[in-house]
Amino acid sequence: MEIKTFGVIGAGQMGNGISQVAAASGLNVIMNDIKTEFVEHGLATITKILARNVEKGKMTEDDKNALLGRIKPSTSLQDMASADFVVEAATENEPIKYQIFKDLDGICKAGVILATNTSSIPIGRIAAQTGRPQQIIGMHFMNPVPVMRLVEVIPGIATSDETFKISWELAQKFGKTPARANDYPGFIANRILLPMINEAVYCLYHGVGSREDIDTVMKLGMNHPMGPLALADLIGLDTCLAIMETLYDGFKDSKYRPCPLLRKYVEAGWLGRKTGKGFYDYN
Ligand code: CAA
Repeated sequence: MEIKTFGVIGAGQMGNGISQVAAASGLNVIMNDIKTEFVEHGLATITKILARNVEKGKMTEDDKNALLGRIKPSTSLQDMASADFVVEAATENEPIKYQIFKDLDGICKAGVILATNTSSIPIGRIAAQTGRPQQIIGMHFMNPVPVMRLVEVIPGIATSDETFKISWELAQKFGKTPARANDYPGFIANRILLPMINEAVYCLYHGVGSREDIDTVMKLGMNHPMGPLALADLIGLDTCLAIMETLYDGFKDSKYRPCPLLRKYVEAGWLGRKTGKGFYDYN
């Protein structure tokens, strides 16, 4: 089946980025979320990024308008009936994702691949919610999606080779470099990245250094583009905690225990950039 129409569930920071790169590759995109205001916010974010690209001379005004014209807003999951491939990038909450996959399985055409951008939920567990486990796969994009070059492609135990190949090639069509990760907690990216971030939070918790010094050490000492605490704020502290919990639950190894300070921030609603406050203040 030729992929012409690409469905994205979720218009948040990951969903709008995925919609943007899909539309930039020439696909027609249906960007879906539960509320009109969420979809409008997603479209506004894409429009702002594209306008900056026009200012920088990276694209023309006509290209920008053509790209935006390929993104159809949607608030009904039924719209996915016309999609040839769907990526789910909804909130990182297991019952919500399961319901979305159950619904998509009933709505989407037979044979359509349903990918998830989950950063922590096992692909096999999501696949088990559907009658098409061979067409369920993980496509894990990095934040910010338009900039980051990687997509982790994660087959579950039942995913077919054909599904894997189509998803791999789609990541390439989006201008990304795919890497294969098998379906174990945290896959590759988050299994390595999140314990590093969690250890940075422990350094703050134990008073080894200030937030600025911890970030400066990793930025200038290791040439990371941003320090681990600033990166945690970008990812979202709730997402960081959820991933640590997944690693801890999945391996039952104490090296993955989330730092109590990370939990305290999340409980206070200090989730990072998206709430205006995390390790740093954004107001
Ligand atoms: N959306 C689109 N474009 C963006 C952007 C965004 N949110 N943020 C920055 N950019 C663009 C800028 O417009 C700029 O483009 P040009 O080169 O065309 O001018 C370019 O990216 C560089 O941006 P800046 O000059 O503003 O700032 P910077 O050089 O510090 O880069 C950064 C910003 C790209 C975020 C960089 O700091 C970085 O790479 N940080 C690390 C990000 C990272 O590790 N992401 C992975 C997180 S883990 C994850 O996503 C997985 C998970 O499951 C948790």
